[in-house]
Amino acid sequence: MQILHIDSSINQEHSVTRQLSQEVVRQLTETGRYDSVVYRDVVKDAIHHLTAPVAAGFRPVPGKEVGGEALANEHQISRQVVDEFLASDTLVIGAPMYNFSVSSQLKAWLDRLAQPGKTFSYTAQGPVGLAGGKTVIIVSARGGFYFNTPLSEMDFQERYLRQFFAFLGIAQVEFIRAEGISKGEDVKQHEIAAAFTTIPLILNSLYP
Ligand SMILES: Cc1cc2nc3c(=O)[nH]c(=O)nc-3n(C[C@H](O)[C@H](O)[C@H](O)COP(=O)(O)O)c2cc1C
Repeated sequence: MQILHIDSSINQEHSVTRQLSQEVVRQLTETGRYDSVVYRDVVKDAIHHLTAPVAAGFRPVPGKEVGGEALANEHQISRQVVDEFLASDTLVIGAPMYNFSVSSQLKAWLDRLAQPGKTFSYTAQGPVGLAGGKTVIIVSARGGFYFNTPLSEMDFQERYLRQFFAFLGIAQVEFIRAEGISKGEDVKQHEIAAAFTTIPLILNSLYP
């Protein structure tokens, strides 16, 4: 059994999602269920945004060739990203909200993951996810409060991630939230502590 751990905050030691995702992975490995953890920091080792020749390496792009030798490294990254994902049973993703959505670094990783024939397939009945059976645990941090508030309509971070993984066939997507991070130090510390308390509750519900 393998965990795939992704961090995507532009902050390092001051990042809320990095502290929390690390703790989720620590508690998961303590269960003894996992043999390996693959870690990918998509800020430190940034994945380039798609260009037509890069995308042509794994999906139809009208009129585009895959770019030959010059793009061999990019195609290798596309293969590695999807292979790591497919080989993993549980994903732990640190996902900060930036401008109401995910970080562009996380988006670049997701763009390499959506590969027809590997993680989803187009059928006569519409697209079908090919990556079912995995569990995704997302640590979500944001400056304001969105969950179950009137601002939830502006949340294109959690909604996007849930729908993206559903598209790949993954229904089990759990969120651990630290909200109100920009609402002063007291609120921030309270919300981070609450998120730490949520971790074992979520893990116990997933693995009773
Ligand atoms: C570039 C940037 C954009 C942000 N955009 C939003 C936003 O749209 N809404 C929000 O509530 N907080 C926003 N924030 C606050 C972050 O979501 C918050 O600081 C969170 O803790 C980030 O996760 P991290 O601590 O792991 O970096 C933004 C922060 C940055 C740096």
